[in-house]
Amino acid sequence: MSKNLVKIRTINNEENGCLSFAEINTEIPFEIKRLYYIYGVPEGKIRGHHAHKSLNQLLVCLNGEVEIETDDGVCKESVLLDSPSKGLIVSSGIWRTMKFNKKDSILMVAASDFYSEDDYIRDYDNFIKLMSEGYWR
Ligand code: TYD
Repeated sequence: MSKNLVKIRTINNEENGCLSFAEINTEIPFEIKRLYYIYGVPEGKIRGHHAHKSLNQLLVCLNGEVEIETDDGVCKESVLLDSPSKGLIVSSGIWRTMKFNKKDSILMVAASDFYSEDDYIRDYDNFIKLMSEGYWR
């Protein structure tokens, strides 16, 4: 199991349904400045293909199934998010792809900072170059 997988606390009541929650310093190791969600993605479509210079994120699949592949330049790892009670921390300096396995999948992302295109690394060779230069060390 990935060390970056976090269990989102869930109150499960057969009569009333479920309530899941995550808090800073317990499940989330950073302050949240932005929340966004990705949905309406065709089944099988792969998004992402980038890394961040300094952004940290928590990913939660609220509906359906999304497969996250992370790559730190040396190791690749695949994590299946298939429950709203599972979260994955994806830190800066990690190349990621998100494969939407099912129609109507919803991926929610809590991010440590506001949107900035300057924080993105969208070229894999550049990511490997920065990694080898010790950008994240
Ligand atoms: P991007 O993060 O590249 O999405 P994905 O990795 O899922 O394919 O974002 C897609 C577009 O949306 C890109 O043009 C940037 C824009 N965007 C914002 O304007 N604000 C945001 O908070 C995010 C996450 C993206």
